[in-house]
Order: sequence, then structure tokens, then C-alpha cells
Amino acid sequence: MIKRLNHVAMVVPELEPATATYRDTLGATVSEPQALPEHGVTVVFVDLPNTRIELLEPLGDGSPVSNFLERNLNGGIHHLCVEVDDIVSARDELRAKGARILGDGEPKIGAHGNPVLFLHPKDFHGCLIELEEV
Ligand code: CO
Repeated sequence: MIKRLNHVAMVVPELEPATATYRDTLGATVSEPQALPEHGVTVVFVDLPNTRIELLEPLGDGSPVSNFLERNLNGGIHHLCVEVDDIVSARDELRAKGARILGDGEPKIGAHGNPVLFLHPKDFHGCLIELEEV
């Protein structure tokens, strides 16, 4: 069902020093910050040859990543995103296997313009998993 690793998302308290670490210390190619108010985050994409790391900073009140930062003051890995061919059939198959889908279970348009869903971390050994239809 799952295919390529699309990205690893990290929540960071401040984008600027985190971006500098990936760019200057680790020598990676990084994007300009992009504000995504509809997702409650500002994101920097770190492009690697085989995948991407997304650095997420909370944006606005009620950001979905604010709670994470309260529990992880220095930031940390927030979720893994893996690709699927058909998100609705993946969802239905996962539900049939007993996995829980976060929210109302309907795919939303994610940061890359593709439909996404999140799977309950308690069903996946503590890892929040994002499915993205590509
Ligand atoms: Co993501």
C-alpha cells in the first residue's frame, strides 16, 4: 500500500536557526520560508536527493503543531509522510484493518496540493503517519 517516503516533518520553535543548521552546517539546499495559514504553519523545505525534510514553525493561534512544541520545547520529529496511489482506498483498507484515521477521515489538501490523511499514532507505535496521494 505505502510507496515512497515523501517527507519527514520536524517542528521547530524558530525556523531561522533551524534553516541555517540544515543549510550551513549540513550543507543542504533549503527553500525560502512559505507561510501556509490554512495549515497553521510556516514551512521550509530541505531538499535531499531521495526525499525532503520539512521544517514547521507554528503560525497563528491554534496551530496544529503548537501542542507538540509545548511537549517538545526544542522541537523534534513530528510525522512521516508516505505516498499512496489512491488515498480513499488506502483509508478504507486501513480502517478495515482496525486503524484509526484522524479528524473526520476525509482527505484534505495538504501543503503540496495533494490529498492527505493522518493516521492515529497509537496505532502506529507512536509515529504520526501522513498519507499523501501522489
Ligand atoms: Co507532512
